[in-house]
Amino acid sequence: MPKSYVFTEHGGPEVETFIDRPHPVAGPGQLVVEVRAAGVNPADWKRRAGFRPPGVAPVELPAVLGGEVAGVVAQVGEGVGGFAVGDSVFGNTVTGGYAEYTVLAAEVTAHKPDRLSFADAATLPIAAATAYDGVHQLGLPPGATLLITGVGGGVGVAAAQIARHVGLTVIGTASAGKKDFVESLGVIHVEPGPDVADRVQAAAPEGVDAVYDLVGGAALEEVAGVVADKSKLITAADRTTVARLGGAGVERARNRVVLDAVARLAADGVLNPFVTQTFPLEQAARALRTVEDGHARGKVVIEVTR
Ligand SMILES: NC(=O)c1ccc[n+]([C@@H]2O[C@H](COP(=O)([O-])OP(=O)(O)OC[C@H]3O[C@@H](n4cnc5c(N)ncnc54)[C@H](OP(=O)(O)O)[C@@H]3O)[C@@H](O)[C@H]2O)c1
Repeated sequence: MPKSYVFTEHGGPEVETFIDRPHPVAGPGQLVVEVRAAGVNPADWKRRAGFRPPGVAPVELPAVLGGEVAGVVAQVGEGVGGFAVGDSVFGNTVTGGYAEYTVLAAEVTAHKPDRLSFADAATLPIAAATAYDGVHQLGLPPGATLLITGVGGGVGVAAAQIARHVGLTVIGTASAGKKDFVESLGVIHVEPGPDVADRVQAAAPEGVDAVYDLVGGAALEEVAGVVADKSKLITAADRTTVARLGGAGVERARNRVVLDAVARLAADGVLNPFVTQTFPLEQAARALRTVEDGHARGKVVIEVTR
């Protein structure tokens, strides 16, 4: 039976384990995919820990970790058009990503461009798509200035590149060790921490037009005042704090149009997901700890070999 990395109850890393699960079957509108690569995201450990966004159903246990994959179609469910067995695809999973096989909803699955590796494609459905959705939600004109907090992580590096591509000036907070990395993306680096708003204002004497927060909590509160128009204050990390500050959460499109758009950007070389670390499925725990530590650089990906 195919192997999956799951959590058996809500808690810390100790509730994670490998189990063999029956081969999945594609329901109507679904695809079974042989996983080649799975993106690792903060949402994976948050789900395991029991955080559940409002309106999201409780998870059925044991639950497979991971939410985004790239792989090869192994079975096509009823009513699905445009996909065939053997196609290389990527998308958001229904049954979890850290696994040899998973189920994708066809409507949030797209074909992988040949030029993209499975590892790069596996980072697009969550990190790159969230970056894309946020930058488009802000709708800033070319020449405007965007502040991204947590710019050195998975969503941040994608958001910075997408924003630069549409002509924005990008200021980003990241720890000192990521300065050269984020500057290589054309980002004006600012160190987070006390008085960060002053440093941001010094880096943007003409003012900041919008904030895309990817950290939440105090890091979000510290910079919220740099934008007067709170419709230009958004977060992917902390809906509670942003609501109190008058801003909004990022609105996720979760559709194939966005998946195709980010894949095109990646295939055209506009968007490099910066997969900085890969781990075999057997080392899924190490992969998730790398992200759970809270200081990932670019993306961490699990590769599945047979
Ligand atoms: N709503 C959605 O659909 C959605 C989708 C994707 C992600 N998210 C959320 O968005 C957030 C970011 O996701 P991600 O995948 O980019 O995470 P990630 O890859 O773990 O990156 C987080 C980055 O934040 C930096 N950071 C940590 N504390 C910081 C601080 N105080 N100030 C500035 N930077 C700080 C980290 O490195 P350094 O500290 O070294 O700079 C790291 O580079 C997470 O909360 C995630 O759950 C939401």
